[in-house]
Amino acid sequence: MIVLEKSMYSTWSTRTTCRKHQDHCLRPQQAKMNTRAIFAVMLAIVVNGAAIYYYSQREMTLQIESPKLRPQISQNGNQTSEESSSGQHDQPHLKDDNRTETVMSSKSCHPRSKFVFIKTHKTGSCTAVNIFQRYAISHHLSVLMPTGGNLLSWPFPPAEEDYVHTPDEQYDVLLSHMVYNKTWLQTKFPANTAYISIIRNPSSHLRSAMNYYHLPKLLKIKSKNPVETFLQDPWKYKDLSEAYFDFCNVTWDGTRNFLSFDLGYPTEGAEDKERARRYISELEADFTLVLLLEHLDESLVLLRRLMCWEMLDVLYDVAPKNSRNYSYKKYVPTAEELANLRRWKAVDYLLYDTFNASLWRKIAAQGPDFYEELHYFREVKKRVSEFCHRMMEKRECKKNCQHQQPLVIKASKWSRQFEADSMHCRGTIYGESQHWKNIRERASVKDKTEWKVMKVASNLRRIVHGLPTLKYKSQGRGIKGKMNSSW
Ligand SMILES: *[C@@H]1O[C@H](CO)[C@@H](O)[C@H](O)[C@H]1NC(C)=O
Ligand SMILES: *[C@@H]1O[C@H](CO)[C@@H](O)[C@H](O)[C@H]1NC(C)=O
Ligand SMILES: *[C@@H]1O[C@H](CO)[C@@H](O)[C@H](O)[C@H]1NC(C)=O
Ligand SMILES: *[C@@H]1O[C@H](CO)[C@@H](O)[C@H](O)[C@H]1NC(C)=O
Ligand SMILES: *[C@@H]1O[C@H](CO)[C@@H](O)[C@H](O)[C@H]1NC(C)=O
Ligand SMILES: *[C@@H]1O[C@H](CO)[C@@H](O)[C@H](O)[C@H]1NC(C)=O
Repeated sequence: MIVLEKSMYSTWSTRTTCRKHQDHCLRPQQAKMNTRAIFAVMLAIVVNGAAIYYYSQREMTLQIESPKLRPQISQNGNQTSEESSSGQHDQPHLKDDNRTETVMSSKSCHPRSKFVFIKTHKTGSCTAVNIFQRYAISHHLSVLMPTGGNLLSWPFPPAEEDYVHTPDEQYDVLLSHMVYNKTWLQTKFPANTAYISIIRNPSSHLRSAMNYYHLPKLLKIKSKNPVETFLQDPWKYKDLSEAYFDFCNVTWDGTRNFLSFDLGYPTEGAEDKERARRYISELEADFTLVLLLEHLDESLVLLRRLMCWEMLDVLYDVAPKNSRNYSYKKYVPTAEELANLRRWKAVDYLLYDTFNASLWRKIAAQGPDFYEELHYFREVKKRVSEFCHRMMEKRECKKNCQHQQPLVIKASKWSRQFEADSMHCRGTIYGESQHWKNIRERASVKDKTEWKVMKVASNLRRIVHGLPTLKYKSQGRGIKGKMNSSW
């Protein structure tokens, strides 16, 4: 009997019915691997039909093990129902069912548990995604999971083999970096799904991207303040700033309309104001809420109300996640530089201004008690966050925190009484990858590193070194020698 190579097997399991729009997004090697795999399969048919049967059965089991469809298994191996299950790694739940007679009552609204969080880049999305990950975990939601790593093919369109399929091809939540594609998402998520994302001021976004993606190397800018240099004349660098991924026909520009790119607007449309206007007003209609990093607390209080969630759900750790220091972080561009940037990133500015106006309009529609809640939220957030840090720093907590006294937050106009316990604390302090590990473990889905999508930062480094760009990290093995220098 022929045993297929593991990577071949993964490729082979691709559904032939969904092939149309994926082949153009595979590297040549990858395409070759496909043919090899198909050849191997055909050989297997000839040699031993049973081999096919065996592998197709295996594939089915893999698919069936999707999070929501699997019964939740508690620590001791007993099956528990979805409602009662609260394994040791669970997020906290409300111990007390006391309700206040206000808006919080479940009669007035029903918590929304289907959502797509488009995780944008360099926007504080690591802090925000923690909220959505905790919600997905504590409510046992079916997560659309990348096959390997945390990127859902970003910055490329997802191919069928890039994510873990459920049998009915329906999901509750998305938590990944992904280029927003409404048409695609509507085939995976039901109509009542909430679309959420986060953006930030395009000027600070440029500084953050400049640092994180080592853009000065790509742009061949050697000055101490590359942002200042760049903003003298952004157009001068256009040929360098655009990274073109030929195997997917995708152009990405870290200096220009990067926010809009993540939300599905193509880099090529930078000069087309009318198209941008139409696209952004469509986004405004599609999205339930786009959070603004500059107004994160306001955004989250609004999120809580729009999603009908509990205050506990939207609390976050005040220590920012994935934050970096660099010399030009606090650089304030001159008026002229800003004017250049506004023209260069016209689409991102339109996006930001639109969603800023939209945020304040939605807040105004909430009535004055919104600000009371905001004030209360900030107080609770600070108290809980400090409490959690104190708890997690205790020596006995390094091993097991479960016996720590929780912090009780009394019922208020906006929340029932709740407890911030060790599980909540761990949940808020955990990084994104730790939660992903948890999500995958619960769904019994292995993280297949050979399907990890190459980070754009690594592809840019390849461009700087004159190497071809790649879709998957695993395609890059064997030529590491050439890439010895850090940048
Ligand atoms: C599983 O649950 C049953 C009934 O609730 C109980 O008798 C049994 O001890 C449990 N098994 C374990 C391993 O905890
Ligand atoms: C409501 O809260 C009070 C005080 O915290 C508690 O004694 C009581 O049992 C709670 N009621 C319910 C129904 O849980
Ligand atoms: C969006 O998804 C649809 C449906 O899968 C696909 O046909 C289309 O090409 C995608 N658009 C982009 C820009 O990738
Ligand atoms: C690549 O994308 C551009 C811009 O979206 C489009 O105009 C062009 O036709 C595409 N080329 C191919 C070969 O698909
Ligand atoms: C970043 O810089 C700030 C102020 O310059 C400093 O307080 C902080 O400790 C630095 N953080 C890191 C991680 O270096
Ligand atoms: C966001 O909108 C508010 C209200 O319209 C306005 O006062 C504020 O200046 C805007 N912020 C930015 C950064 O444009």
